[in-house]
Amino acid sequence: MPHPTTRRRFIALAGGGAVFATLPLAGCATAYPEEATQAWRAAHAETDLRRHMLAHALLAPNPHNRQPWIADLTQPGRIGLVCDGERLLPETDPFGRQILIGCGAFIELAVIAAAQRGVAVDVQLFPDGAPAAHTLPRGSRVAVLQLGEAGSARPDPLFAQIPRRHTNKTAYANDRELPAQLTAQWAQTAQRFGLTSGVVADAGGKERLRAITREANEIESVTPRTWLESAHLMRIGPHAITTHRDGISLNGTMPRLMHAVGLFDPMEVPSPGSANLKRVMERWAPFETGSGYLWLASTGNTRQVQVDAGRAYVRLHLQATAAGAQMHPLSQALQEFPEMRGPYAAVHRALALDPQRSTLQMLARTGFAMEAAQPSPRRGLQAMLKA
Ligand SMILES: Cc1cc2nc3c(=O)[nH]c(=O)nc-3n(C[C@H](O)[C@H](O)[C@H](O)COP(=O)(O)O)c2cc1C
Repeated sequence: MPHPTTRRRFIALAGGGAVFATLPLAGCATAYPEEATQAWRAAHAETDLRRHMLAHALLAPNPHNRQPWIADLTQPGRIGLVCDGERLLPETDPFGRQILIGCGAFIELAVIAAAQRGVAVDVQLFPDGAPAAHTLPRGSRVAVLQLGEAGSARPDPLFAQIPRRHTNKTAYANDRELPAQLTAQWAQTAQRFGLTSGVVADAGGKERLRAITREANEIESVTPRTWLESAHLMRIGPHAITTHRDGISLNGTMPRLMHAVGLFDPMEVPSPGSANLKRVMERWAPFETGSGYLWLASTGNTRQVQVDAGRAYVRLHLQATAAGAQMHPLSQALQEFPEMRGPYAAVHRALALDPQRSTLQMLARTGFAMEAAQPSPRRGLQAMLKA
């Protein structure tokens, strides 16, 4: 039986609640189909080192769960990571910055998984040269991972957190503080990657970021091409979720029912002032809860720095997981499409970052969720292996 807030959200999502609010919900499974999340349980079983690395790496957080990676195993002792040009987000991530952050997270998990087997990895970024700032060419080689000798690395304590890490998109407690030890760990990790970070946990600061992230979500929602990019990636119901194993998975009872009877049409772009937009923004409400916001910024915005931001971010998330805390990126205000200029400037200003010199790479609400998150779908290892 879904949690009452989840149920309310479903009603809000699709509208027509008066009709469906009375339907019994017991017995309707909202958990993702086993097959779609099998990768989370399968990673430990890989015996071959490179497959073991990839099976863990593909559990990385990544924008819209696009899983934009292809692995090239044609050269022994190496893994080539190619960015899958079919899996970009040209509207919400026009420069491919977020896609590269996802690739960075992938690389870091591969490195941690290799260390677990005693092998150090030499990460050579962009072996063909870094892509230009505003275009990520299809099929760019992001990295070559060169494996070291046996015994060249020691296990990383964060390894155990890889299959436990999930982006939790439910409501968090507002009245719990983050442990000081965790926030100190975050700052050290960011520094190790040459990045700056901080946590905004005071009431005024949280309120400012809530207002900015809310406005940014509204802009992304009413802008037809950015809304539709996400709408095309919605996987509604177990069949679509199992078939695609990527994108935005919606398996709640209400969206499924409403979609089935034509009352929920993802392709209907919410217009300003519409009831549709109001419902979209009601769904946003849990995203304004939490202990605070974690931010991660870089000096400059090179392609290398974007990958490093992903490597750092996944470590921050694994550290949070180890401490029993949750993380949920809210990226709309960081996006580079023209309609987002206002919130982009505002979020940099709120964090005292000069956008001419520094780039906010990640902003995530963080804290302690009331509900556990379930593992999100993955396409699995075979799907990313280059023939
Ligand atoms: C660069 C980046 C940006 C993201 N932005 C958002 C976001 O704006 N909203 C959101 O709900 N999740 C966001 N996420 C989280 C992804 O949706 C999530 O990682 C993906 O669905 C896979 O789920 P998992 O992290 O639980 O494995 C982002 C993740 C990354 C790496």
